[in-house]
Amino acid sequence: MNRLTEEERQALVDLAGEARRRAHAPYSKYQVGAALRTRSGRIFTGCNVENAAYPLGMCAERVAVGKAVSEGETEFDVIAVVTANGGSPCGGCRQALAEFGLDTLVLVADGDGRLVTEFTVGDLLPLAFTPSHLGK
Ligand code: THU
Repeated sequence: MNRLTEEERQALVDLAGEARRRAHAPYSKYQVGAALRTRSGRIFTGCNVENAAYPLGMCAERVAVGKAVSEGETEFDVIAVVTANGGSPCGGCRQALAEFGLDTLVLVADGDGRLVTEFTVGDLLPLAFTPSHLGK
């Protein structure tokens, strides 16, 4: 159920923007925030969490997904992602989101909280490898 009002879109973008301010990104200095809404209506935020051991860094989207799944929520409706320049989710995060459905709406916004573009996870990851390929 991806039909969102403008107010709902902006509220999610604003939450992602707040989460972005908590980003731990001293290495890249590229702060990312995410706000993931489940079909049950709960919202889980995330920010990128970098590490001095660089490969251990975590993306904002995957932090939000992990928080939701660890709270028993696996059905997603929409995720807002905020970066300074409206960057879209990386390939790894596309795959992580695809695990839980290709219909999840992705809202991409910039550092001023302006919605830049939106698409579904399926749009972002054509020919996705999904649990269905493993019979799940
Ligand atoms: N990053 C995210 O949090 N999400 C993305 O989809 C793209 C990249 C983070 C990872 C790293 O901390 C910083 O942005 C620069 O790549």
